[in-house]
Amino acid sequence: MNAPIGVLDSGVGGLSVLKEIKNILPNEHIIYFGDTANVPYGSKSPSQIRLFVFEILKYLKSQNVKAVVFACNTSSAVVLDKAQPCFDFPIIGVIKPGIKEALKVMKTEKAGLFANNVTVESGVHDKIMSEMSGGKHGVIGKACPDFVSLVEIGLTKGAEVERCVNKYFSAFDNVDLDTLILGCTHYPFLEEEIKKVCKDKITIINPAKETAKELAKILKENKLENKSENKESDIYCVSAEPEKFRNTASILLGRDIGEVKLVIF
Ligand code: DGL
Repeated sequence: MNAPIGVLDSGVGGLSVLKEIKNILPNEHIIYFGDTANVPYGSKSPSQIRLFVFEILKYLKSQNVKAVVFACNTSSAVVLDKAQPCFDFPIIGVIKPGIKEALKVMKTEKAGLFANNVTVESGVHDKIMSEMSGGKHGVIGKACPDFVSLVEIGLTKGAEVERCVNKYFSAFDNVDLDTLILGCTHYPFLEEEIKKVCKDKITIINPAKETAKELAKILKENKLENKSENKESDIYCVSAEPEKFRNTASILLGRDIGEVKLVIF
């Protein structure tokens, strides 16, 4: 089926998921939506985030998407369950795929979770991990409010990032951990600096790959795959500052993404 797939986030973070989707589903045509007028979602309330995401979903529906990926942990935590019954296309989140990946490798009882305030406070990662492991495993969350603003300006390396990673990672000083879930799609862009602090003793989980695999599975099950070669280029939309988004996205992806469309609701 030659319809587009919607991919949404508060800003540039979802590009870490888009990258993996493009790797395994090169024939698919993507409409990416960055809600830059409302970034960061981490400082908003769950009910505000629901309003923002429903507006984006309505827009994506008007563009005839065949599936939507919440390339955003916050939306996956506080919107997904409420949104799915309201739309007739499948919606795929990033939380379950990340937890599935973590459970493959973790031996300690708890995994660390770096995420924003809303996601940590929702407790959704802990709940799902407990359900998926028969009560054996859970997460300890640490909110990292400064990470999103760094990534939104394309700052992914250097002393400031390192200082921030050290500050947040010290929350786990007295916890026995062998796994750290990057519970915000912005954070994989900081992975190099996070790795330096974790050294080799901790496996870092970026849910993006597993999310892309889940999307591929759902497209196949619902016979929605695009079998013909995709000639259309992807479309990038934002709710504010398209040029800023284009610049940061180009830094993060290492290529120019072209014109970015401004969509105001
Ligand atoms: N990248 C999003 C997430 O995965 C949103 C981060 C934010 O805007 O606070 O949660």
